[in-house]
Amino acid sequence: MDARDEETGEAMSNQQLRDEILTIFVAGHETTQIALGWTFYLLTQNPDKLKILTDEIDSKLNGETPTPESIRGLHYLKQVIDESMRCFPPAWIMGRKTIEADVINGYEIPAGTNVIMPIYVVHHDERFWENPYEFQPERFAMENVKEKHKYSYFPFGGGPRLCIGNNFAIQEMQVCLAMFLQKFRIEVDEDFVPELDPLVTLRPKNPIYAKIYKRK
Ligand code: HEM
Repeated sequence: MDARDEETGEAMSNQQLRDEILTIFVAGHETTQIALGWTFYLLTQNPDKLKILTDEIDSKLNGETPTPESIRGLHYLKQVIDESMRCFPPAWIMGRKTIEADVINGYEIPAGTNVIMPIYVVHHDERFWENPYEFQPERFAMENVKEKHKYSYFPFGGGPRLCIGNNFAIQEMQVCLAMFLQKFRIEVDEDFVPELDPLVTLRPKNPIYAKIYKRK
């Protein structure tokens, strides 16, 4: 509330302040919560991957609360989060309205056209991803991402309007998943196939019920 524009010295109006806060809540909370929900679901459906992840968390954190430093050492955890947002990108689509006419890759785009970047579709395009409907966190191991096209994966958008909360969101998810899996085991019915509800964000149409057990 004390922030002042560096050039004009102006403060935000009450309306601007309200809009900024709303953006942070809308852009920052629902997206991260959805990504976590899908990640838990994917882990329950892939127990072998869940085991690799739990073993990593147990062996590297030794039961300690994660810190920014120790979180960085959990490489498989980061791969799980990346792969989860490939399978189910919370922001599954983004759009722009053209100001001027242009030609993109041979397509003539008139001024005033809505152009859609279908993140979900690109994340499941077989030209970029083998067996795209399988959950394989190993795809995001350092040696496997080097050759990838920069925009074969863009859950946080790109260019000048890249998500400003991307690193914060990832760290929030790393802490939450590590602390949860240190203490609990989670199960979802193996036969449960969630239906997608692609509105502004990509949510499951119906609730995903899970059983949670305290780890011994
Ligand atoms: C997993 C979590 C998140 C996902 C998947 C996500 C996704 C995105 C995407 C795709 C965009 C670009 C939209 C476009 O170009 O049309 C965006 C922009 C934005 N995000 Fe996120 N986001 C996440 C978390 C957050 C968090 C935690 C915050 C704030 C604390 C945040 C704040 C914003 C803001 C303010 C913008 C607009 C930036 C601009 O237009 O300059 N997001 N986000």
